[in-house]
This record gives sequence, C-alpha cells and structure tokens, in this order.
Amino acid sequence: MTLNEAVISRHSVRKYINKAIEPEIVKELQKTIDDCNEKSGLLFHLQLNEPEAFGSGMATYGKFEGCSNYITVVGKKEDEEKCGYYGEQIVLRAQQLGLNTCWVALTYNKSKIVCEIPKGEKLLIVIALGYGQTQGHPRPTKSVEELSKIKNGDMPEWFRKAMESVQLAPTAINQQKFVFVLDGDLVEAKTLLGFYARIDLGIAKYHFEIGAGDTFFRWK
Ligand SMILES: Cc1cc2nc3c(=O)[nH]c(=O)nc-3n(C[C@H](O)[C@H](O)[C@H](O)COP(=O)(O)O)c2cc1C
Repeated sequence: MTLNEAVISRHSVRKYINKAIEPEIVKELQKTIDDCNEKSGLLFHLQLNEPEAFGSGMATYGKFEGCSNYITVVGKKEDEEKCGYYGEQIVLRAQQLGLNTCWVALTYNKSKIVCEIPKGEKLLIVIALGYGQTQGHPRPTKSVEELSKIKNGDMPEWFRKAMESVQLAPTAINQQKFVFVLDGDLVEAKTLLGFYARIDLGIAKYHFEIGAGDTFFRWK
C-alpha cells in the first residue's frame, strides 16, 4: 500500500476486535515510532494490551469498544503541530500494516493511561490502534476552494492534488479549521480558531506533502 493509498483508505475506527497485534507488525511500526521520536524530539510510546484507558468513562461515551492498544504522545504545548505532523506518519504506517487507528484528544480515561510525563511536558494526545471491526467510513469534507487560497492565477493541478490529500486528513470533530495559501512556490498553512487546531494543522501538512508528491514547493 502506497502512502497515497493509505491516505484514501484510512478512516477513524473506534471499535476493535479482540486480537493482539502480531510481533512482526509491532516491530515494523516501532521502527516508524523510533524514527519519529528521533526527528521530532517528542515521545511517542506504544502501549500494548492495556484495555483500561478505553474501557470506561469518556471512552465508552465516545463510542470506543475493545481498544487495548494506544500510542501516547508526550511533549510541550508548543509542540502540537509537530505532534500532528509526526503522529500522522505513524498513523499512515499503521494503516499500511493493516491496522486501524483513531486520534483521541478527549474521549479516553486519562486516569488509566500508562505514561510517564517529565516535568514541563504534558500528554498531548493519544492514538488508539488495533484491528477494527470495520475499516471505518468516509465522512463529509469542506471543498478544496474553502480550504485554500491562490494568490495569483489559477489553481495548479499539483496543488489541487495536495489539497485533496488535505481533505482526507483527520481533524478534531472533523473541523478542518485551516487554510493553505499558495503564492508562487511558497505555501503557507494557517490555522483558524478551533480545539486542537495546531495538531490538525500538522496532520494536514503531512497529507499535503504526500499529495504534492515530487512537486517542488516551500513552506512559508
Ligand atoms: C486532534 C484530534 C483529536 C481527536 N479527538 C477525538 C476524540 O477525543 N474522540 C474521538 O472519538 N475522536 C477524536 N478524533 C477523531 C476525529 O473525530 C476524526 O478524525 C474526524 O471526525 C474525521 O474523521 P476521519 O478520521 O474518519 O477522517 C480526533 C481527531 C483529531 C485529529
């Protein structure tokens, strides 16, 4: 599965079957996690066979079922964009490995999370993962025109493709509170007001890069 295919097939999944993740899949996913930890300076940590965080309270209210694995993301508040950018690399790798995922900021039982948090840092978010009961469902999206702005002339084909990948990026409550502005070969990705909007922005920027493929552009 290519990254573009992973972008298309990924949907949030909240109900999982009772099956442990195979050791060779864990090993592959761990390589991406290690790589993201090294590049981001954040701490992504995989917790396996830990059903409690998704077994009660907010999690069941949030319609989670059978989730026994998750990744904790620990860092500083100002690292939220990085958290999204690198976390989505792990999410899409998981998709390529046949797993399902869901970013979760609120609907889990925080007191049951297994996680060490150094002074001055916080648990930014968790990512639920495992084998889904289904592959999830496509959901509505804002149009490319609503999500972007072209400073001069018409929208180039490569930019439209990149924005189609952005449309498929997961965002908190599907809010899609951002706009991508193209000015020559410069792209500025701006957040609008919203909960966890900076995490969303990091996720969307990674999707943009995947959709842009080999086309040269620079982030402003
Ligand atoms: C930053 C962030 C926080 C999220 N928090 C929650 C959450 O607390 N509970 C939940 O059930 N889903 C949560 N989600 C999942 C979103 O609801 C989901 O990604 C969005 O509705 C788009 O659907 P899709 O992921 O299937 O494309 C979150 C997603 C993101 C990116």
